[in-house]
Amino acid sequence: MEEELRGLQLGDNTQRTQQKQEQVPLHEGAATAIIPWKYCNVYANNRSPERLFLFQGQSIFIQQRLDEKVTIDQNTGNVVWDGAYLMAKFFESHIGSLQGKSCLELGAGTGLVSIVAWLLGATHVLATDLPGPHTEHVQKNTGVNARRIAQERMQEIQRHEKAVVGAEEGREDMRMRRRRNRQERTRMIELDSDNLSVAPLDWNTPVLPESVKFQGPFSYILCSEILYLPKFHRALLKTLTKFSDEHTVVLLLWKQRGLGEERFFDIACRPSTGWKVQYLERTVLDAEFQDQPYGVAQMTRIPTTSTPSSFIDSSS
Ligand SMILES: C[S@@+](CC[C@H](N)C(=O)[O-])C[C@H]1O[C@@H](n2cnc3c(N)ncnc32)[C@H](O)[C@@H]1O
Repeated sequence: MEEELRGLQLGDNTQRTQQKQEQVPLHEGAATAIIPWKYCNVYANNRSPERLFLFQGQSIFIQQRLDEKVTIDQNTGNVVWDGAYLMAKFFESHIGSLQGKSCLELGAGTGLVSIVAWLLGATHVLATDLPGPHTEHVQKNTGVNARRIAQERMQEIQRHEKAVVGAEEGREDMRMRRRRNRQERTRMIELDSDNLSVAPLDWNTPVLPESVKFQGPFSYILCSEILYLPKFHRALLKTLTKFSDEHTVVLLLWKQRGLGEERFFDIACRPSTGWKVQYLERTVLDAEFQDQPYGVAQMTRIPTTSTPSSFIDSSS
């Protein structure tokens, strides 16, 4: 991470070449949407003020805060870490729909993972980070994207409904069309921007403001790149325990930087904690990153009476 942070402050030639490609102004519907991830979003120390991501065929614009110094202890959430992209991609590829589920993101940073969870239809997503500018930053990214995407989705649904009526009026192979339209409609989930909210949550004092209507337990708790500070591991585990129950699945993704990230699991695996950890194969991650040192695990609470539920069967 030291090197990545140095890159963030100073940059180097390789990154500058990649940044050049990304520094095309990004606006809604811009042609840059077809630039593959490989060329536009490679490193966490990418210094573009705005970054474009594509999920579910939808553009997500993420603002990065480049005005402040980033160190291992401060402002790490100002930029999108590759782990956030990987976790969002994992959800898109392996889960598909989160309809009817609630999600809590810890240390949300720029909010990318929460936005994608919402896009996948989660009934309620709560993105959290430290109070102050950290949550304001998440709020800005989630608010702007959710409002625009919800509006675009509504227009898409209306266009689709008009097309259905038009086709039916024309009596054009009606039975076939109806069947296809039913299938398409299930992919067209209406999105309500109110289902994506933001709140301050410090793991050292894990209490959500009273104004937060849904306080858990959550179906999923999402943790991207938050294991790099072992001094917070105990607090983090306490936070996970507070907002979960036996049905909750915690998903953790981290880069193996040798900062003691895995020590978190030594604590979590102690029988007294009541948690079960399952490491997932790296093959569940986006193909471009499978040769990189990323770890991914899911955790569930051990039920007192029955077998724990499984998020993804790593043996399959
Ligand atoms: C490396 S960043 C990862 C950000 C984001 N999850 C991503 O992958 O792009 C770590 C995040 O954890 C947050 N964080 C650090 N200590 C925290 C604490 N005690 N309570 C809550 N959040 C914290 C930081 O503000 C930052 O957003």
